[in-house]
Amino acid sequence: MRTVRTARHADTGGAGGHSRILGIGGYRPWRVVANTELCAAIDSTDEWIETRSGIRERRFAAPDETLHSMALAAAGKALAAAGVDPREIDLVVLASMSQLDQTPPLSVRVAQALGARAAAAIDLSAACAGFCHAIAIASDAVRAGSARNVLVIGAERMTDIVERTDRGSAFLFADGAGAMVVGSAAAPGIGPVVRRADGAYSEALRMTAPWGDSAGARPWMRMDGRRIFRWAMDEVAPAAAEALRAADVSPADLGAFVPHQANLRIIDLMAERLGLGPRTAVAQDVVRMGNTSAASIPLALETLLAEGQAGSGDTALLVGFGAGLNYAAQVVVLP
Ligand code: UT7
Repeated sequence: MRTVRTARHADTGGAGGHSRILGIGGYRPWRVVANTELCAAIDSTDEWIETRSGIRERRFAAPDETLHSMALAAAGKALAAAGVDPREIDLVVLASMSQLDQTPPLSVRVAQALGARAAAAIDLSAACAGFCHAIAIASDAVRAGSARNVLVIGAERMTDIVERTDRGSAFLFADGAGAMVVGSAAAPGIGPVVRRADGAYSEALRMTAPWGDSAGARPWMRMDGRRIFRWAMDEVAPAAAEALRAADVSPADLGAFVPHQANLRIIDLMAERLGLGPRTAVAQDVVRMGNTSAASIPLALETLLAEGQAGSGDTALLVGFGAGLNYAAQVVVLP
């Protein structure tokens, strides 16, 4: 049987080498929306929202803060932080659940605007788990030598798919974008991914109708929050522990815990289940940003680094979970 050469970038340290995160960047829309602004439409209170979710405020994008512009801004910051020229990016992976245009892929337009002329670009649909799935794909591509550098982006305008009057979700979701550059490294900087999908829960987070339904109704997102909460505790928390074991990092030594910013109660309970100690910084970006789906992990990590709660060389456990239901978790070393 004939064989083929498998790695394009063996000379760059990719093949047989390791991967790591080189830089992180985020974009937060300007408009800050307090709980009180949303309460009338959903018959709720500031106190209920904060007690049940931890959220005090979130950001809603203005009309000119598009998915494209937010993704571009976050990607530009990540590239600058990484010191990587856009022309050295071989692959762009953009995770989003609120990209309303079926085609062309948003990632292609972002790559074009950045001047990433050598890059292939694909969109990834895995809802709030998307960013961690994309990091795993990026890491594998770099380690296999099929890409020198991969730009991973999570971008969401959840306000386009969440109905303002939906009591179960309107107070939770928000807008923003985050990005990371993954490149080659001499030592391991991204641990093994632990990931799984369970279609038995596919109704727990879904759209009310397909686009272009004969009735002409606009589809909106609906969520069985209580069911997802239980699943996150039963399925995702053990998977997060498994990601720590797979990377050979003990809970006591973990620098930062950065789960998807779905709900502060989920974050705190997961931290407790993992047995994290006082040395581990726990991301709480949800308090000020709400749930930004695929963008929440890079945004939360950017905050921890900016506030000095985590630093270069620290380990961080990333855990993405959401619609599907679907999860992915891995330990990374911070740039
Ligand atoms: O990011 C993708 C994945 N999504 C998630 O991870 C979301 C996970 N789930 C959650 O974050 C939580 O389930 C929510 C924050 C969405 C809801 O919190 P909860 O503690 O699970 O509330 P619940 O749905 O069990 O409702 C408790 C009570 C109910 O009243 P009764 O039956 O106890 O009298 C609801 O009718 O709160 C009531 N309620 C509200 N009250 C005021 C439900 N929504 C509201 C509301 N304001 N917006």
